[in-house]
Amino acid sequence: MPLNTEREQWGSKIGLILAVAGNAIGLGNFLRFPVQAAENGGGAFMIPYFIFFLILGIPLMWIEWGIGRHGGKFNHGSAPGMFDVLWKSKLAKYFGTLGLFMSMVILIYYTYIVSWTLGFSIFSITGMYFDETTAGAMRNFLYSYQGREVGQHFTSILPAYALMLVTFGLNFWVLYKGITKGIEKLAKIALPMLLIFAVILAVRIMFIGTPDPSVPENSVWNGFGFIWNPNISLLSNPTIWLAAAGQIFFTLSVGMGTIHAYASYVKPKDDIALAGLTTAATNGFAEVVLGAAIAIPVAVAFFGLNATQEFAQGGAFDLGFVSMPLIFQRIPLGQLFGFIWFLLLFFAGITSSVAMGQPVIAFMEEEFGFSRKKAVGVVAIIVLIAVQFVVFYQKYGFLNEMDYWAGTFGLVVFALIETVLFMWVFGADKAWKEMNEGGDIQIPMVFYYLMKFVTPVVLFVLMVWWFIESAIPKLMLEGVSEVNKPYYWGSRTLMIVIFIGLILLVRKAWKRKIKEDGLD
Ligand code: PHE
Repeated sequence: MPLNTEREQWGSKIGLILAVAGNAIGLGNFLRFPVQAAENGGGAFMIPYFIFFLILGIPLMWIEWGIGRHGGKFNHGSAPGMFDVLWKSKLAKYFGTLGLFMSMVILIYYTYIVSWTLGFSIFSITGMYFDETTAGAMRNFLYSYQGREVGQHFTSILPAYALMLVTFGLNFWVLYKGITKGIEKLAKIALPMLLIFAVILAVRIMFIGTPDPSVPENSVWNGFGFIWNPNISLLSNPTIWLAAAGQIFFTLSVGMGTIHAYASYVKPKDDIALAGLTTAATNGFAEVVLGAAIAIPVAVAFFGLNATQEFAQGGAFDLGFVSMPLIFQRIPLGQLFGFIWFLLLFFAGITSSVAMGQPVIAFMEEEFGFSRKKAVGVVAIIVLIAVQFVVFYQKYGFLNEMDYWAGTFGLVVFALIETVLFMWVFGADKAWKEMNEGGDIQIPMVFYYLMKFVTPVVLFVLMVWWFIESAIPKLMLEGVSEVNKPYYWGSRTLMIVIFIGLILLVRKAWKRKIKEDGLD
């Protein structure tokens, strides 16, 4: 197969770093992380978190950059083609289908969640929820916006639907513009802005100190203490370890095919070793420094530790969409700070959601020979159809089910496959050379052994463990109400349809290729 010279490439090194950092930094850093940390013992969570960052997060980051740039040399911007050049087996491309599936399914529900942040930034600046002063009232505001309850502010799901369309449209417009003019340009604006917003909020929150001097234990500092003082005795609880591993995957965007897609547009001899490390580090900073300094400390200051943990347990979004708005009502310039908070989430989200769309679009363009317009159009239509179910059935758990299989369990499976393929089938020495080629740094040798032995073993153990601990109960619909069960099945059906559809597309694409090659 010819090496490609005409493939689109990132405009600049800084643009590339910002784009990949934008991919990784998302709602995971500012919403999911605080919830996970608070639910899983605060400081105790941070120990497995850092361990998994070292033995899974960073190695997978480099592996994915390596696979991605390597695939790009052969004109492949998505996992089926990338795996096909790593492993001379007919099966390779089908394993790669997972890399299309996961990013696409996550995109479907993530788009809707991102659109809430856009809505709430508007409701903040206009002060729309500023008379909802209790947790119950604020929750009702959120739920009625989402169409889950009746409320006085929203009588239909129409506003949420409209903003979903806006977010969706923006997402595909950026994708249509392409790598440099779309994704890179967006990242250059959105990423610096979101970092500035996050710093402003974190600093503002630090000055909150102890809002009610008569309750001195409710302070920002105790909030920090909760995250940073590990209660070692909790470490024997396996749930905390599984949660930490899950967070590492989700936040770094590894195990889903999007990092590969971005890396495929790097020039063959350009650095990826330092770039991979830089993006992992930037994401880490945005998470454990900035993400950790916002939602939890301020909630502890205003509501106390117990209530903060309750918010975290109350569902993935209570901390961000209920607790934070209640706090904005109590601080000077709250409307403005609320606006900044939700806009920060919006920027974080949109730079991630474009990343989720890129693999499938690259697949349509490169393996099917579609024009960009046609590729973007086709993917947009599929996503738009699937999003309908998410919007209308979210209240029945439709979204949760997708998030578990594609956003949690699937990631370990895909990560295990790619690690074995790259480090064992393709070969550790060749893989090592690929990852280091053109590098501005040399990856420390210890990672060679980590990637070859430790990472795959840990991934395997996690996969089995997860399967037993959570996948089986989920599969059996444990704890799901009778009313919601059909919707869980609906969610599964949708995912299966998408998966089979993708498998068939991959098969078709390769048949077509073989035919073309035969004509040459
Ligand atoms: N890493 C992103 C976050 O933290 C989520 C994401 C998932 C991004 C999948 C790209 C692909 O929110």
